[in-house]
Amino acid sequence: MATRNIVKRGEDVLAKKCRDVTNFDDRLWTLLDDMYETMKAANGVGLAGPQVGILRRVVVIDVGDENGKIELINPVVTMMKGKQHELEGCLSVPGLWGYVERPAKVRVKAQNRYGKEFEIEGEELLAIALCHEIDHLNGILFVDKADQLLTQEQLEERK
Ligand code: NI
Repeated sequence: MATRNIVKRGEDVLAKKCRDVTNFDDRLWTLLDDMYETMKAANGVGLAGPQVGILRRVVVIDVGDENGKIELINPVVTMMKGKQHELEGCLSVPGLWGYVERPAKVRVKAQNRYGKEFEIEGEELLAIALCHEIDHLNGILFVDKADQLLTQEQLEERK
């Protein structure tokens, strides 16, 4: 495993729509392992393909709950319920946070690293992470949706 460079806002790759993964091979597994290591090293809770420069529908998430590491290949949201409005950040947008409206609960259908289909449901932070990371696969950043953006300084002033 190795950490990869995290692409920052302003680079084209973050604004593009990703293609489906079709090969569930060692190349994919290495990518997933590297993405997880990269996310952990940066203290993140989610990372999507474009954030390491790969325009494929691949996501890793770990919000520190009982699900542990979640790997999502070709994820699709199949159910959304309720609303929440919470502060979000992104490893590709360092130093900026924003309030984004998200569903309170989501269900996502995806494939695992071997191509097997599964479903996962999330609420609270996991629902946010699922939506935020799937947005990345469609070239959307949280700053595109946030109704209020805050710098580190502004965030600290609020505490
Ligand atoms: Ni992000």
